[in-house]
Amino acid sequence: MTDKLRIGQVGLGYWGRNLARVFDDVGDLTWVCDASEPLREEFSRRFPDARVTGDFDEMVAADDVDAVVIATPVPTHYPLARVALESGKHVFVEKPPAMRVPEMEELIRLAEEHGLVLMPGHLLLYHPAVQKLKELVDAGELGDVLVVYGNRQNLGKIRKDENALWSLGVHDLSVILYLIQEEIVEAAAHGHAFLNEGVEDVVFCYLRFGSGKIAHMHLSWLDPHKMRRLTVVGRDKMAVFDDMELDRKITVYDKAPEQPSDTYGEWRTRSGDIFSPKVPNDEPLKLECQHFVRLVQEGWDGREMHDGLEVVRALELLTESLRG
Ligand SMILES: NC(=O)c1ccc[n+]([C@@H]2O[C@H](COP(=O)([O-])OP(=O)(O)OC[C@H]3O[C@@H](n4cnc5c(N)ncnc54)[C@H](O)[C@@H]3O)[C@@H](O)[C@H]2O)c1
Repeated sequence: MTDKLRIGQVGLGYWGRNLARVFDDVGDLTWVCDASEPLREEFSRRFPDARVTGDFDEMVAADDVDAVVIATPVPTHYPLARVALESGKHVFVEKPPAMRVPEMEELIRLAEEHGLVLMPGHLLLYHPAVQKLKELVDAGELGDVLVVYGNRQNLGKIRKDENALWSLGVHDLSVILYLIQEEIVEAAAHGHAFLNEGVEDVVFCYLRFGSGKIAHMHLSWLDPHKMRRLTVVGRDKMAVFDDMELDRKITVYDKAPEQPSDTYGEWRTRSGDIFSPKVPNDEPLKLECQHFVRLVQEGWDGREMHDGLEVVRALELLTESLRG
């Protein structure tokens, strides 16, 4: 008998292999499941103590699974998460857990009814740099936040099941909503599918919030620059989270427009110090997986799944606009 959380994971592909490594560390990976025979063979060698199957229903029915981790393509998240919750298993599901608001609401209802944890894998929320950004915003260090924009560009990985909004934008969206904590009153998106029919490779998004704050995202896997950057423009200071930087993940610019009394209403700009607060070097994926285990073992208030619902709501609004 072990007191480690017993985990069954479905989806052992590109991202699933990272999740399996970490969940086997922070919990006990008792089952792994994938439709691909070569992956099942590979994982039976990597995790000799785990049961290996291609049949999700078999894994979900097993007594030695307390929680199910879902790392399959996005369209499969909702049906698999629903089966797992109906079978009484806690669920960690890669982002986003559903493609439509009513589906996400149904997952939340099932989790509440059965007293289970349902945690979407919004990895960036566990990034120490995002926590630092949130600290700066909440402490009023930047003044009122006016604009937040994300750049998530690269050449590849070219996906066929999810467009750039659903695959890349979901990361920035989760952080933007976490920082701003307001309702979206306007959402617009433009993009184009150049490589695979119906799958936009490049998407530009615009969001406006109740208080007038605005956000923008440039999402693309068809770009010469590898950018993983989020910029927050405050009334008093500006901050940048650049995940491509090794040591300087956050930079705060003491820069802002101001109206000195001797300029009779004219705007001037002020440029002060530029500094980089210390950000712990902890692995976001490990923090995320530990957080899930802690929620299951210590109880929770459902915040993560309700935040996940707001991300799905925003994705739905942007998709409606994208498809015109
Ligand atoms: N958090 C992050 O930073 C991050 C990064 C990359 C991908 N992801 C997410 O992870 C998920 C998986 O992405 P990926 O790149 O690993 O995809 P992938 O295609 O490499 O792997 C998916 C795997 O799921 C398996 N699969 C699909 N349906 C199945 C089913 N019904 N039963 C059993 N196996 C099934 C496939 O055989 C495949 O091996 C996606 O939701 C993606 O958005 C998250």
